[in-house]
Amino acid sequence: MRKPLVMGNWKMHGTRASVHKLLAGLVSEGAPASVDVAVCPVFVHIPLAVSLCEGSALAVGAQDCSHMAEGAYTGEVAAAMLVDSGCHWVILGHSERRQYHGESDDMVAAKLAAALAAGIAPVVCVGETRDEREAGEAEYTVARQLQGALRGQASLHSLVIAYEPVWAIGTGLTATPEQAQAMHAFIRGQLEALPGLDAAAVRVVYGGSVKPDNAAELFAQDDIDGALVGGASLDAQDFQAIVAAAQG
Ligand code: PGA
Repeated sequence: MRKPLVMGNWKMHGTRASVHKLLAGLVSEGAPASVDVAVCPVFVHIPLAVSLCEGSALAVGAQDCSHMAEGAYTGEVAAAMLVDSGCHWVILGHSERRQYHGESDDMVAAKLAAALAAGIAPVVCVGETRDEREAGEAEYTVARQLQGALRGQASLHSLVIAYEPVWAIGTGLTATPEQAQAMHAFIRGQLEALPGLDAAAVRVVYGGSVKPDNAAELFAQDDIDGALVGGASLDAQDFQAIVAAAQG
């Protein structure tokens, strides 16, 4: 049995005041014991989020980390620094990083290696663009991203995969539960081919316009183990409703 994970990706949103408000709502509601729940604010709000979540069931994650452990890398944040700041999770290879920051599969692999070495739990994002789906290349793209990130890693403990079709992110378009399930099953098949990994135990979460009204039907699919939630995670009630749907 895989425990569902619902993670809020706050992207580049928020002020200290809004972080206080949002987390006050989430922390007072608490999280069900049967679901792992996390929020991922921008780097500068991580210490505040960690202190507000202390003693609650909510974990804190980051949206990215450096591919290097330490050194002259202006503007970067190392995975070990995230651990030191109280982060449990880090999102890697989000399509917005790939699109706006030119992150290649090799760079995602290097970031994943850095995260694993630092002992932070990685959520590796994969997903095809609309053009790739229309050209019948969705599986090819996802397989390439998975292989590119995962092949050759020393150990993949605590790995989570997020399938986020790019055409569904922030657009209000969601993959149908059947489309998402098909890709999640495909991803699990790809994971089975990796040596030393128990593919049946790896959580594969869905992302892309997950909302309270579509979460339950997505979570009802066999290979969908939770969600990476963007827009709806900025509203405490909506996020709570998605967490509740994951309780099944
Ligand atoms: P969205 O974003 O829920 O706003 O579509 C999801 C994500 O990018 O992680």
